[in-house]
Amino acid sequence: MNIDGIHYRTIWIDADNRLKVINQLRLPYAFEIVTLHTCDEVRNAISDMLVRGAGLIGATAGYGMWLAAEEIAAAGVTEDAAFDAAFREAGERLKQTRPTAKNLSWAVDRQIQEVASVRGRDKKELARALAETIADEDALSCRRIGEYGLEIIRNLAEKKGKTIHILTHCNAGWLAFVDYGSALAPVYAAHDAGIPVHVWVDETRPRNQGMSLTAWELAQHGVPHHIIADNAGGHLMRCGLVDMVITGADRVTRCGDVANKIGTYLKALAAADNAVPFYVALPSSTFDFTLADGNDIPIEERTPDEVLTITGLSSDGTPTTVQLGPKGSPARNWAFDVTPARLITGLICERGICTATQEGIARLFPEHLSPAHDQSHA
Ligand code: MRU
Repeated sequence: MNIDGIHYRTIWIDADNRLKVINQLRLPYAFEIVTLHTCDEVRNAISDMLVRGAGLIGATAGYGMWLAAEEIAAAGVTEDAAFDAAFREAGERLKQTRPTAKNLSWAVDRQIQEVASVRGRDKKELARALAETIADEDALSCRRIGEYGLEIIRNLAEKKGKTIHILTHCNAGWLAFVDYGSALAPVYAAHDAGIPVHVWVDETRPRNQGMSLTAWELAQHGVPHHIIADNAGGHLMRCGLVDMVITGADRVTRCGDVANKIGTYLKALAAADNAVPFYVALPSSTFDFTLADGNDIPIEERTPDEVLTITGLSSDGTPTTVQLGPKGSPARNWAFDVTPARLITGLICERGICTATQEGIARLFPEHLSPAHDQSHA
């Protein structure tokens, strides 16, 4: 993704071996790059949401494990079993930061498993190489998601012959991954291919990732868009102003139930009621093949302060947090909800598009699920 003409990933190791991330807490008002020096700093960056989005927290955790390996080695731990135990412990602490997105535990478990599999070799070198591999795979998967999703948009555009209006919720763009994004990758691909697209951006209360991150990304890429209040989507769909919905996902079960940002479910209900296609875009690292359905997905509940306050710029340009609502009224703040598979038109993955069914998912990922024939997508 280019920012003011310069290509960035959301996370990288610089020439001085320092781990760099874009501080998403400062966007859209300031573009700030931060160095994360230790695994503890990585943990805080994930839990404070300086980095966020399923793919990016997975990649960040991958790099966090590299820093953990450096710290364990620097503490003089050389014996394999002791190293592996300390490494596993660091991973377990990283996993506790944010429970819903599968990508985080996926990346940590991959590090633990692969680093434990080498004996008497430089484990920290392996952890670093694996962190880079996880990040590269994330970017490549998202690029492919963009290519597959482009074909859906192209088909709609050919039928309609006019601008395709796409509604998205939260931020599943390149800021939520290492590059490209999931839900927004097809949008960027379509825009770059000269297909006229316009995006309805849900503001996404309480943290406003749509307003502050998705709108900023789309503006950087020159994609036409409007920010809408979270509750506007149903009205727009009923008025025929939405051609398709694309969202990201934080965890998808083997039957195709999708956990995503709170409010996704309501958009899916409105889409189903108005026959608007509802697609979910995700890399395979977001699948949780161990879960039969969405009932067992852990749903993160965050501080009520996110509901009771809002942050913006004051008239003199200073970032300011103000209280909303009456003092003393309590709030609850669930960060995600589950959209049942039956409301989802298709899953756009790096290997292609499938129905949100066990059969459809098994067709794309037979190594994880027993294959079965899915007739609904070519
Ligand atoms: O709480 P966040 O900002 O990490 O949540 C992000 C979302 O819900 C995205 O839509 C999701 O991660 C899917 S795309 C990575």
